[in-house]
Amino acid sequence: MKILPIIAGLILLVPLANAESVEEQYKKACFVCHDTGVANAPKVHDVEAWKPRLEKGMDALLNSVKNGLNAMPPGGMCTGCSDEEYKALIQYMSSPQQ
Ligand code: HEC
Repeated sequence: MKILPIIAGLILLVPLANAESVEEQYKKACFVCHDTGVANAPKVHDVEAWKPRLEKGMDALLNSVKNGLNAMPPGGMCTGCSDEEYKALIQYMSSPQQ
């Protein structure tokens, strides 16, 4: 029965290996500016503020985040985000609060 502690250990490790949720990433990398709208950043869950942004299309928004836009530094504050993660963050911020 030596295998049981090993299995138990693996189960405990699984949550640590999981990727962060969009919300956690938002809080780390986008929250500081997009929560209160620093320097005219469109606020999180403010659908009206995001409307004109979304009209540019997801690819344009993705480029803005990756290259930076005015007061927004390149990548927001996420150094390791993939395109897919940025898109998920943009969708999270531009949709109404759950
Ligand atoms: C240091 C502050 C700051 C951080 C951190 C930040 N932003 Fe921004 N963001 C801004 C500002 C300011 C604008 C408005 C820029 C403008 O239009 O002048 C903006 C605009 C945007 C836009 C609209 C771009 C466009 O083309 O209209 C998107 C999308 C965006 N941010 C996504 C993100 C994401 C995703 C993160 C987190 C990974 C993030 N931002 C982190 C300040 C920030």
